[in-house]
Amino acid sequence: MYFCPSFMAESIFRPNHLTDKKARYQSLLPQLHALVKGEPDFLANVSNLMAALKESLNCLWVGVYFVKNEQLVLGPFQGPVACTRIARGKGVCGTAWNEKRNIVVEDVDAFPGHIACSSLSRSEIVLPAFKNDEVFLVLDADSEQLAFFNHVDEEYLGEVIKIIESL
Ligand code: SME
Repeated sequence: MYFCPSFMAESIFRPNHLTDKKARYQSLLPQLHALVKGEPDFLANVSNLMAALKESLNCLWVGVYFVKNEQLVLGPFQGPVACTRIARGKGVCGTAWNEKRNIVVEDVDAFPGHIACSSLSRSEIVLPAFKNDEVFLVLDADSEQLAFFNHVDEEYLGEVIKIIESL
């Protein structure tokens, strides 16, 4: 039997006893830094970051889309199967890419052009990641609860974006 090298945590410590969202992120972030430390493979690191986020956020779906040939193409994710390609300016993801800004959607039914990969999704947050001032990836998270994401998620998922940009 082969085990992961000892420098990699076997699992993420989920601070379920912490009800405060900010405190939960503050406990999670150092673990995310540790998770990618020493591993040079970008895809492996993003995959593990998404798995750790899914376990910790208790959301329906979390993953990334890569900008490829003027489209967003599905990358590492956790959750139900999702749309593989999104055009620039379409949906929440395509809009975040096109407008180079974070988007927090309290009610997906109220967002014009929202792309429903899962009918269970009720709210969403999307943050772009940049290389040389251009978006190269977007991070997307969906929840079955209305208004699940807020400025706290935007702030701390922004820290996850910084980790991804530094990989
Ligand atoms: N809802 C997104 C599409 C991606 S899935 O939610 C995973 C959008 O409107 O861009």
